[in-house]
Amino acid sequence: MSAAVLPVAAQTATPAGGRTGETVYREACMACHASGVNKAPRTGNAKDWAPLLREGQPALTGTAWTGIRQMPAKGGREDLTLEEFSRAVAWMARQGGGNWQDPDAALLARIEAVVKKREARAKKPANG
Ligand code: HEC
Repeated sequence: MSAAVLPVAAQTATPAGGRTGETVYREACMACHASGVNKAPRTGNAKDWAPLLREGQPALTGTAWTGIRQMPAKGGREDLTLEEFSRAVAWMARQGGGNWQDPDAALLARIEAVVKKREARAKKPANG
């Protein structure tokens, strides 16, 4: 028996159903957003984040999840749930001066609605 084998969940207060926003950020977003690769909005940079915060949490989160310009859909991580991804966006928004919280069921539903709309639009033929 060793103290070193404590499960991670016992050390980091993982919310029910997945990783925290900060954990997801470190695993999946930091590589681009810490330094601003391809002009990614830099974490902790209030100037980068101010216009994004104005878009509102459902719109910005849904847009990022489906991908925009150089931002890969889901941050390129197929294993993330929408809820985990949304927590990461909220965590990043807080570093940038916002007060966004991990989404509850109602907010998650609004994010899902944005995602569905964007996916439907993406499926339309270019001339349609
Ligand atoms: C491969 C690099 C890369 C990774 C990994 C990445 N991003 Fe991005 N992200 C970008 C770039 C580049 C932009 C700027 C896109 C633009 O506006 O042209 C961006 C933009 C965004 C935006 C703003 C979207 C908008 O509407 O302007 C959010 C929110 C975001 N990323 C969240 C995340 C989250 C959350 C993760 C991790 C799960 C992540 N990103 C991982 C490159 C990355």
